[in-house]
Amino acid sequence: MERKKTTLLDLIKKKEQRIPITMLTAYDYPLAQAVDNAGIDMILVGDSYGMVVLGYNSTVPVTMEEMLIACRAVARGAHYSFLVGDMPFMSYQADTAEAVRNAGRFIKEANMDAVKLEGGRRVVDAVRAITHAGIPVMGHIGLTPQSISQLGGYRTQGTTAAAARELLDDALALQAAGCFALVLEKVPDRVAAYITQRLRIPTIGIGAGAGADGQVLVIHDLLGLFDRFVPKFAKQYAQLHDNIAQALNEYKSQVENHAFPTPQHSFAIKENEWETFLQAAAEHSSDVPQVFIDEHADTARVY
Ligand code: KIV
Repeated sequence: MERKKTTLLDLIKKKEQRIPITMLTAYDYPLAQAVDNAGIDMILVGDSYGMVVLGYNSTVPVTMEEMLIACRAVARGAHYSFLVGDMPFMSYQADTAEAVRNAGRFIKEANMDAVKLEGGRRVVDAVRAITHAGIPVMGHIGLTPQSISQLGGYRTQGTTAAAARELLDDALALQAAGCFALVLEKVPDRVAAYITQRLRIPTIGIGAGAGADGQVLVIHDLLGLFDRFVPKFAKQYAQLHDNIAQALNEYKSQVENHAFPTPQHSFAIKENEWETFLQAAAEHSSDVPQVFIDEHADTARVY
């Protein structure tokens, strides 16, 4: 059957039919291609990009421009997955008009299908305004890394009856404001399953147990590419970090031992062209610049 691009309707149908929705992050062309080819329903160009690719300590410093570059690369590589661009910290909090303009840039300049933003009831005005502009919005509640200082660390959210109730109220408010789906991050499995049952829109869990409508992982965690830490909720399906280290060591040792490149990786010049070149070069040998290495200077000098 010919593959078609995933639509919002497909996601709702999957929820209704209880078919799990698959989502992964990607931040560049090759991994976007790989995720798309694997038939994953949705790609999130998450602001986790700031940590796993750009090396920041948190997602807070990530800028709009950085996100747009990553989104454009992903859109060039993925043609079937539904693409969600993550709005970075302070691109939607200050005022609603700015939130709409920034959301519009993800669609217009970076070919995303939707945007995601973090927060519950306090972001419903932004959600409403962005959806009114015709841009689908995915919500994100539970652990929201952009407000990590306020949350007091990367701890599990919704662990008391009162906090679980707050999460439910946030989820219902985001649905009412027009979100097409919600990420539930690091919340107890029973709370996530309950919220999922109460919503018409799909929930996508990360550290939220098996009761959400779908699952998302940061691709660098899944592939074992990010070695600073592995969150408890992430499963490593490969250890590419080790494979990369092994490949790089092998390359270094082969170059140092003259085992790479071999003729197989080199290019030839025809024998007659080579002979002519040598003759011409010998005739002009007195014009050829000489490289003089002065041991006391920082660089070689050409005379
Ligand atoms: O930025 C990100 O990758 C995310 C996921 C963890 C949901 O927001």
